[in-house]
Amino acid sequence: MAPRHAKAQPAMLQASGVTMQFGGLRALNDVSFGLAEGEIIGLIGPNGAGKTTLFNCLTGLYAPTSGSVTLRGTVLPQDPARVTEQGVARTFQNIRLFPSMTAQENVLVGRHVRMRQSPLSSLLHGPGFRRSEAEAQARTEELLGFVGLTQFSDELARNLPYGDQRRLEIARALATDPSVLLLDEPTAGMNAQETEATRQLIFAIRELGISVVVIEHDTKFIFTLCDRVLVLVQGEVLVEGSPDEVRGDPRVVEAYLGAPPDEVDAQIHGGGQQ
Ligand SMILES: Nc1ncnc2c1ncn2[C@@H]1O[C@H](COP(=O)(O)OP(=O)(O)OP(=O)(O)O)[C@@H](O)[C@H]1O
Ligand SMILES: [Mg+2]
Repeated sequence: MAPRHAKAQPAMLQASGVTMQFGGLRALNDVSFGLAEGEIIGLIGPNGAGKTTLFNCLTGLYAPTSGSVTLRGTVLPQDPARVTEQGVARTFQNIRLFPSMTAQENVLVGRHVRMRQSPLSSLLHGPGFRRSEAEAQARTEELLGFVGLTQFSDELARNLPYGDQRRLEIARALATDPSVLLLDEPTAGMNAQETEATRQLIFAIRELGISVVVIEHDTKFIFTLCDRVLVLVQGEVLVEGSPDEVRGDPRVVEAYLGAPPDEVDAQIHGGGQQ
């Protein structure tokens, strides 16, 4: 049987030959990959491998030294706000919420990317503005419910438990109506139960028709979540394949995990987190 997400399927998000040079450091070297519609890709690799840098290049935060990123065949602008408008949303490794705003307000900020109001209507708080605000409020409540944070709607973001702040960031990203969602270490600092809830949440996000790329150090999480896994080492894609292919690849064991065989086995076959 053909794999569910055959490689022949045209990529929705495509990185081609992305290289990112910081002075003398080449953080990414000729990285190419395609994300198909409805696919969940995992991005793993040691600290400093270039995972976050790749997200920064995909979202217009960094202008790659060379190479390009396209969404449905169109080159993405090197402007994070416009990339979001075009349908690529992300969360950050170091949570970037507005700490003194409520959970609801944080999600509304994401929603405003999609609100089209004439300046005059906004200024006068006319019927169009009120309708649009009411729609945004409703969508915000819906998204808070989707990520399981309804009870924290009026709570300041900074008062939320850490794992819930990560979920709130996901809700804010979803509020921009993305077709691609990039998650940078969404389970960092979570316990096993929260991690499992996040895994289920990402499956539910895929059911909404959103394609996902997830960076995570917890290989068990990645291998049980993703259709395909990319292993980034020193800025290059070392191995790419299904979770089974990647898990069994000796180069991954040697270059990425770099630990004694017993420990590696525990880590990549259902052991602890890194
Ligand atoms: N803005 C920058 N200026 C200079 N060097 C940078 C910059 N951003 C990242 N780097 C360097 O690029 C390399 C890759 O960093 P990056 O944060 O992408 O790694 P990572 O794979 O996300 O690591 P981690 O798992 O620790 O999050 C590192 O050596 C880092 O110091
Ligand atoms: Mg990182």
